[in-house]
Amino acid sequence: MNNKKILILPGDGIGREIVAEAVKVLHWLGQRPGLDLTFEEALIGGSAYDAMGTPLPDETVARAKSADAVLLGAVGGPKWDSLAFSLRPERGLLGIRKALDLYCNLRPAQVFAPLLDASPLKREVVEGIDIMVVRELSSGIYFGTPRGVETLPDGRRRGFNTLTYSTDEIERVARRAFEAARRRRHKLCSVDKANVLESTALWREVVSDLGAREYPDVALSHMYVDNAAMQLLRHPRQFDCIVTTNMFGDILSDEASMLTGSIGMLPSASLGDHNALYEPIHGSAPDIAGKGVANPLATILSVAMMLRYSLSAPGEAERIEQAVNRVLAKGLRTADIMQPGATQVGTVAMGDAVMQALDEEN
Ligand code: IPM
Ligand code: MG
Repeated sequence: MNNKKILILPGDGIGREIVAEAVKVLHWLGQRPGLDLTFEEALIGGSAYDAMGTPLPDETVARAKSADAVLLGAVGGPKWDSLAFSLRPERGLLGIRKALDLYCNLRPAQVFAPLLDASPLKREVVEGIDIMVVRELSSGIYFGTPRGVETLPDGRRRGFNTLTYSTDEIERVARRAFEAARRRRHKLCSVDKANVLESTALWREVVSDLGAREYPDVALSHMYVDNAAMQLLRHPRQFDCIVTTNMFGDILSDEASMLTGSIGMLPSASLGDHNALYEPIHGSAPDIAGKGVANPLATILSVAMMLRYSLSAPGEAERIEQAVNRVLAKGLRTADIMQPGATQVGTVAMGDAVMQALDEEN
């Protein structure tokens, strides 16, 4: 049996609380036949800054590179907001994405049946949605240069960032998106702002060419990002796979998460050619950190994605997703997905309930 090394990066805020619940699931998996897992833990974000003076210690990068998969909680918090940009916790997260060249971020928005009425949108709108947002993650305006804030001769200050995409960067993430669409309903919508931004006009051109050349079986469409934001609320079932730039994907995936009831439900996989990192799409939620009320399900579902994409164990991934579904069907809810008549539980109790559901199955 092939031993797999998992690196755990709890990070800051609720990151530590939700990761602790996902780790219970990982340990359970480590006992399963066919899976031999070893675990390591390292620092990232504000907690790394506090301990080592940098949000992304070299040692964390080295360990992540040699791991078979990385599980990350969340980074950031008001404590570090006054730091210079280069030292802020978010730089740790962006830095590890870049260092591992994780260019393809999969953010699936699916609604669990027991949560159909938990979305602020009507049941008729969200019923049956199953959307895979493929977000470019290692380029675009997040990383483009020049960037910064300069002082003009007249004393005014001017901030600037650069949105760049080269054809190879577009093509490699588009290829992943076409492949994902092929495993699903063969529909891909590429989201851009090609009517205004040259870099995304190029995006559209490259995605179209690749589709025509290699993926004639996938129905490709294009949408401007403003329209996409509207269509996601108007008629989300029209979407199968969406592929888009780093920043548009950041925004649209938060929006898509609300179709599922709560941002606390959305897992993600960040994939490169050699490494993979799994994390919930939400942040460190400083307002509820330390209170034991955060929803650990997005992180637990990120473990399911790890099983699917890094550990070749799709059956185990399904087990976890079904356990989550059963816990929700029993009426257990964390505060973010609380509904009338349901039973509100905290982070640890939700994690325990998933563990119990996993055990009961056997
Ligand atoms: C996300 C987050 C990050 C991002 C932040 C924390 C840097 O919002 O993963 O979606 O913008 O990518
Ligand atoms: Mg985000």
